[in-house]
This record gives sequence, C-alpha cells and structure tokens, in this order.
Amino acid sequence: MKYQGVIFDLDGVICSTDEYHYQAWKALADRLGIPFDRELNSQLRGVSRMESLDIILRSSDRVCTDAEKATLAAEKNALYRALLARMTPRDLSADVRRTLDALRQAGLRLAIGSSSKNTPFILERMGLDGFFDAVADGNCITHSKPHPEVFLKAAEMLGLPPRQCLVIEDAHAGVEAAVAGGFDCAAMGDAKEDARAAYRLQALSDLLQIIDSQEKPAKS
Ligand code: BG6
Ligand code: MG
Repeated sequence: MKYQGVIFDLDGVICSTDEYHYQAWKALADRLGIPFDRELNSQLRGVSRMESLDIILRSSDRVCTDAEKATLAAEKNALYRALLARMTPRDLSADVRRTLDALRQAGLRLAIGSSSKNTPFILERMGLDGFFDAVADGNCITHSKPHPEVFLKAAEMLGLPPRQCLVIEDAHAGVEAAVAGGFDCAAMGDAKEDARAAYRLQALSDLLQIIDSQEKPAKS
C-alpha cells in the first residue's frame, strides 16, 4: 500500500473551528476599527496566530509594538477559547467520525499536523484526546505552514517517510507545506481547487475511496 499513514490538518478538516477563528478575529478587528471579512480571513488559514495578526494589522495603518501585539493576540485567543469551550463530542460530524473509524479499522496510522497551539484543548473538547497515533501542533514547531515542519514532525512521530503519508488540508498554505515536505496532499474546502493537490475531497469520507483503491499486496 502506498499510504500507510494519514496526517490531518485540524481546523476546517476535523472540526469547524475555522469559523470560530473567524468570529474571534472579527470581534477583535471590529473593536480596533480594522476592516475584516471572510476573504481576508481565508488568508489566515494554516498560518500562526502572530502571523495572522500581522496580516490583519497590515490592512490598517495601525502600528503596534511587540508587547501590544502580544496583548492583542492574547485577546483574540481568549475570545476563541471561549467559543471552543462550548464544543462537545457532538460537534464531531458523522462523516469525520465514520472516516476516522474506517481508516483505523484499515490499519492506517493517523496523525494531526496543525499550526494551532490550541490543538490539545480542541481534541479534548471533541472527545478525540488519545485517538491519534501522533499529534504535531503549534506547540512543537518553529515555523508554521507553509513551512513543512509540522507535517515532517508528524511523519517522524508516526515512523513513516513522507511518501507513505497522505496529508489532508483545507488551506493553500497547508497544501504548499505538504508538497514542500514531499507529501501527497488531498485538498478540501477553500483549498479544493489548489493545483498542487493530488486529490480533491468534497467530504472527508471521499478519502476512504482513495485508500481503498490503493494497490493491496497480492494474496498468496
Ligand atoms: C491553524 C488555523 O490551524 O491554526 C489558523 O488554520 C490559526 O487560522 C492557527 O491562526 C493558529 O491557531 P491558534 O489556535 O494557535 O491560535
Ligand atoms: Mg485548516
């Protein structure tokens, strides 16, 4: 089998926390009087909290010191975590649950590769703590996507080379990171039309067909 592992982005792939990121950034931007819409929000997918703040500030004439930026990022994160705290395992969609269970059943090694420092909290809210064989996230990387570090770390934790892992992404920065790391990428959502992706998914469960159609070892 070509793919022995699957590395999932978290926000927008496993859960709809990308919407909560939008709501929290929007509340902060409104308070500061900075224009912010879903188009600008889509540029924040996959990139770190501080880089996201820099992108938002660039669209205004506001100049902030590093200390002010840290305060603003903390304010956004508090708003975001208040939204995350409302999540329960019922927020895990049936499609995602079915896909994860089927992949596990098929014997694949499963990992998270996310830029988010809130990954452990989100997995706990979704009832997924302890489910994945490896979790590489914003807490263990120096460079966020589009740098491949988080996916390379996840593959290393799985004990697999990049060519044996398929990355699932909803962000252009994530597709770029996967390809830069030597991974095939299946893209969905915002990144679905990204030409660098090897596969396009309408729903996460489309992945099952890709895995199922892989060449199986011949039976003797
Ligand atoms: C990524 C999101 O998963 O995590 C980005 O796509 C976000 O939008 C990044 O900025 C960092 O998240 P956090 O939870 O560490 O602020
Ligand atoms: Mg994402």
